Amino acid sequence: MNAAVDAALEAIAAATDSAALKAVRSAHAGEASPLAALNGSLRSVPNDQKAALGKLVGQARGRVAKALSEREGEIVAAETEARLAAEAIDVTAVPLRRVPGARHPLTLLQDRVSDIFVGMGWEIAEGPEVESEWFNFDALNFDADHPARAMQDTFFVEPLESHLVLRTHTSPVQVRSLLERELPVYVLAPGRVYRTDELDATHTPVFMQFEGLAVDKGLTMAHLRGTLDHFVKSVFGDDAKVRLRPSYFPFTEPSAELDFWHPTFKDGPRWIEWGGCGMINPNVLRSAGIDPEVYSGFAFGMGVERGLMLRDGVQDMREMVEGDVRFSQQFGMVV
Ligand code: PHE
Repeated sequence: MNAAVDAALEAIAAATDSAALKAVRSAHAGEASPLAALNGSLRSVPNDQKAALGKLVGQARGRVAKALSEREGEIVAAETEARLAAEAIDVTAVPLRRVPGARHPLTLLQDRVSDIFVGMGWEIAEGPEVESEWFNFDALNFDADHPARAMQDTFFVEPLESHLVLRTHTSPVQVRSLLERELPVYVLAPGRVYRTDELDATHTPVFMQFEGLAVDKGLTMAHLRGTLDHFVKSVFGDDAKVRLRPSYFPFTEPSAELDFWHPTFKDGPRWIEWGGCGMINPNVLRSAGIDPEVYSGFAFGMGVERGLMLRDGVQDMREMVEGDVRFSQQFGMVV
């Protein structure tokens, strides 16, 4: 009996985790253990010895049970401590900082421009960047041999028979809007456009434009001028104003280069060139099924990158396409 108790105590002391202790408990205190067998054998002991022997067996089993529960307490405490240590959080540790992003200034300027026109009751229109040659050129009254179609300006999409191009300006949205919408139409179409230019300080092959289009009864060049005047004042301050210089675009007649007086230009106030505009060419109205004897309209198109350079003094266009968040953060809209 003592040997059974010693073996049990030794095994209990050697158990270092709950699983091991469970195995020890079943081997030394379970139904198949030597002490349980001893207890069972009491039945065959003569009555006069039963009480004394029973007491001894009971004490032996009690010692083992006590050792088991003490060891269990130790193991549970140790395991709890180990788990707490593993889960510990050092609330004084320096956190890993996640640098917040910032909205891109081109997006911000595009939103600002859109807001100005929405504020006048205009709607925002969109068209695809992979555009059919018909919308990008033909419907806009470009001759079949107009130089702007040539390979050195336009990205053509293969196969060439698909007659798809990456749109070279937002003007195809003029025709799409006229076909999709009820008259009168007052829309602003901001979006990305593509030309086969090398990336340098003043060019990028992907850039953004916004296109304005108004078609209604009785619109004149005075409406165009008034709209642009309000627009440049909204972006560049009350001292800004517009000047139109005669020019040529196939889809407007008459056409003009749009200059504006920049009152806060970094090298001093001056006239700056910022885009094209004009009265919609009757041929464009006709290609959208509109009678030019009844309706007239105007359109204008400007570059967003150039707007950002002029408004915020950004010197190099490459900064706008490199995607360094520190560039965007300077414009103050951290998200
Ligand atoms: N689409 C012309 C360009 O990209 C700009 C323009 C738009 C001119 C609308 C006149 C009217 O150069």
